[in-house]
Amino acid sequence: MTTSLLPVQPNDGPLAEEAARRSSGGTRRSAPRPALDDVRLRAEAGVIPQEPAQPASVGTSPGAPHRLWGGRFGGGGPAPALERLNRSVDVDFRLWPHDVRLSKAWAVALSLAGVLTADEARRMEAALDAVGERLAAGEGPTAADEDVHTVIDRLLHQEAGAELAAKLHTGRSRNDQVATATRLWAAEAARDLAEAVRALQAAVADQAEALGAAVMPAYTHLQQAQPVLAAHWMLAHFWALERDRGRMAAARRGALAALPLGSGAIAGSAYPIDRVLLKESLGFAAPSPNSIDAVGDRDFVAELLFAVTLLCTHLSRLAEDLIVFGSSEFGFVRFGDRFTTGSSMMPQKRNPDVLELARGSGARVLGDLMALLATLKGLPSGYSKDLQDDKRALFGAVDMTTLVLPAVTGALAELRFDTRRMREAIVGATLATDLADYLVRKGATFRESHEAVGRLVRESEQSGCDLHALPYASLTAAHPLFDRDAFDCLSPRHSIERRAVDGGTAPDAVSAQLETARRALESKD
Ligand code: ARG
Repeated sequence: MTTSLLPVQPNDGPLAEEAARRSSGGTRRSAPRPALDDVRLRAEAGVIPQEPAQPASVGTSPGAPHRLWGGRFGGGGPAPALERLNRSVDVDFRLWPHDVRLSKAWAVALSLAGVLTADEARRMEAALDAVGERLAAGEGPTAADEDVHTVIDRLLHQEAGAELAAKLHTGRSRNDQVATATRLWAAEAARDLAEAVRALQAAVADQAEALGAAVMPAYTHLQQAQPVLAAHWMLAHFWALERDRGRMAAARRGALAALPLGSGAIAGSAYPIDRVLLKESLGFAAPSPNSIDAVGDRDFVAELLFAVTLLCTHLSRLAEDLIVFGSSEFGFVRFGDRFTTGSSMMPQKRNPDVLELARGSGARVLGDLMALLATLKGLPSGYSKDLQDDKRALFGAVDMTTLVLPAVTGALAELRFDTRRMREAIVGATLATDLADYLVRKGATFRESHEAVGRLVRESEQSGCDLHALPYASLTAAHPLFDRDAFDCLSPRHSIERRAVDGGTAPDAVSAQLETARRALESKD
């Protein structure tokens, strides 16, 4: 049973006949136009008439700039103001390794489709390799090159000769080409970022391990809440980064989920391209299922930008913790000399610029994500030139993050914690919950205990002493279930040890957490 979106009428012409022939498995009655299968067969037999060589580009006339379009326009070329605006090579030049790679795969696909002979495909591949070598050796765009595709096409004309080079763009468009190259670039970027995140996580885990049994106040609302192991605080940042690494892996999979190449400008290539082979050779999971969607889809850019933005948000929160903890008032941590800057005026200053720049970068990449989403939101389906700017946002955000991550990793590795200051900073009132828990253990309800301990906190504040300095009589007056051993629970160590649930701050739980963290770092993704 074959399905067709369009009803096939008896006299619909050759396409209908072809469809009818295929669904009945029968032979064709008349063949006024060659079907795709016939093109392939005749090409294999070497009888496909090659189309007369198109003027490959306006730029083939001596001295004129190399262009991929222009035949339909009058002489003179585009206005300089348009050329300046339209030119994207400064941004997209870095796509060249991917564009060369996909072009080689396309040459093979064209030969399998009978458009290029096997010999032409071989020469095309060799010429593209030569182009790649020239670009790798530092050859760059000329002032007249519109975009990276133009650069490669210009060099290909030099390496392969105009006659062969002019055949490469058969059945493809820069629309499916750029979507494919950008996907390949994004997949690599996501992988590299994930590795840089892993390095930062390793530094976080090392610091957590080095902090050992050190204790510190944990904060909610930036007010002292409860005592915790300092390693527990440090590892909190590990898990946010672990989720980021997962998002990078997902963004990589998203970029490689669907191959746009073969979609042409919008409607699909008119040549019998084997897109399954093509997706295999370029490492994609599947050919894109819809050519219109494929050339206009930038979800993968948005996904990577979101992953990057959230990562930078986490870096910003880590930076903010450290900036606060590094202030003179806290003094929990001292930044290493190699990652600290001075002031041109105040000789005593040690400024955590790395962390401030990391915090600031979060704002910039958020802007890139917003710019992309705002661009997509205004577009109809298919390709529009606005999409050219997807790369500006993507590259800007990835570059920024690539710069920030190793700097934060380095700064983090050089932190020196003052564990005495951390311990001494813990105020007695952070143990109020432990006093309430004590009453619960003795049989009171938590609400009752909360109320009684609240009164004790007020009393300690009024008399200007810590909870543990209150007279025993105050405790028994606040609640009859208080006994002398109540004072035992008023130590940070006791408070921490009681929180032995999975994911809690008790030493055993934190050791187990650190082990899980180390194991997560060994995972492949
Ligand atoms: N530089 C362009 C981009 O990045 C390439 C695609 C051009 N397509 C077009 N229809 N003009 O989007």
